[in-house]
Amino acid sequence: MRTQDQSGVEQNLPADVASAGAGAADGVGAAAAGPLVWRDQIVPVSTRFDDPYFSLANGLAETRHVFLAGNDLPARLRPGFHIAELGFGTGLNLLATLIAAEGICEGLRYTSFEAWPLAAEDIARALSAFPEAAARAGPFLAAWDAGLRTFTLGPLQVEVLIGDARATLPTWQGRADAWYLDGFSPAKNPELWAPDLMAEVARHTAPEGSFATYTAAGFVRRGLAEAGFAVSRAPGHGMKRHMSRGRLERTR
Ligand SMILES: C[S@@+](CC[C@H](N)C(=O)[O-])C[C@H]1O[C@@H](n2cnc3c(N)ncnc32)[C@H](O)[C@@H]1O
Repeated sequence: MRTQDQSGVEQNLPADVASAGAGAADGVGAAAAGPLVWRDQIVPVSTRFDDPYFSLANGLAETRHVFLAGNDLPARLRPGFHIAELGFGTGLNLLATLIAAEGICEGLRYTSFEAWPLAAEDIARALSAFPEAAARAGPFLAAWDAGLRTFTLGPLQVEVLIGDARATLPTWQGRADAWYLDGFSPAKNPELWAPDLMAEVARHTAPEGSFATYTAAGFVRRGLAEAGFAVSRAPGHGMKRHMSRGRLERTR
C-alpha cells in the first residue's frame, strides 16, 4: 500500500504549467499519481490537495445525483453524445456513466482531463468500495494498467488527456455536450475552477451543452456565468445544501 510520500507533499500545482504537464505525462507511478492516504481504509485522499477523491458518504450515489442527474443524464444520451470531465481521478464517474448508459445508447464519447493519473492498483482499491462499479471495472483497469489512455468501455469511447488541464483544455479540438466539473474542492484546488478555465470549458461546449458540479462556491458560479452558462443552484447530495448546474447560453 502506498502511503505518504516521504520526499515531501506538494500543497498545490507547480506554477509552471508546462512542467506540471510534462511531469504528469511521465506516466503511472507514485510521483505521477501523487501521494495518497486512505481514510477508513476505503476512501483515497490526496495529500497534495488534502482532499478525498470522492464523497465519504457514498461517492457513487453522489456521482449519480450531481453529475448524471445534474446534466439530465441518461435522458439526453444519443449516439455521438460527448461527455467531458475535469479530474479523472479513480474513474468512478466514468463507471457511473457506463452503468447509466448500458442498454440505452451506443456510440458515446467520454473525454477526461487529469494531471496526476493514479496507479491501476489504487484505482482498483478505491473502486472496491462500490461493488456495482467494481464489477464493470475489469476492462478499464486492464487498459489503464497497460498504459492505455484511449480505450473502449461498453458504449463509451474513452480518452483521458494527461497533463494540467490549464494547458491541455485550450488546445483540445473537441466540444462536449455535458461537462462533469470534478476538481478537488475549489478552496484547495482553485486553479481547476478559475475563470479562465471556466471560459475554456464554455468554449469547448456544444450549443445547448451543460455542466454540473458538486460545488456552489461563488467564484466558480460567477466564472461559469461570465463564460456564458445560465447557472442555477440545485439541492446538493447528502449533507451538502447546494450544487450547481447550467446550460450554455452564449459563447464569449
Ligand atoms: C475529486 S478528484 C476527481 C474524482 C474523479 N472524477 C473520480 O471519479 O474519481 C479531482 C481530480 O482532479 C485532478 N486535478 C487537480 N488539478 C488538476 C489540473 N490542474 N489539471 C488536471 N487535473 C487536475 C486531480 O489529480 C484529481 O484526480
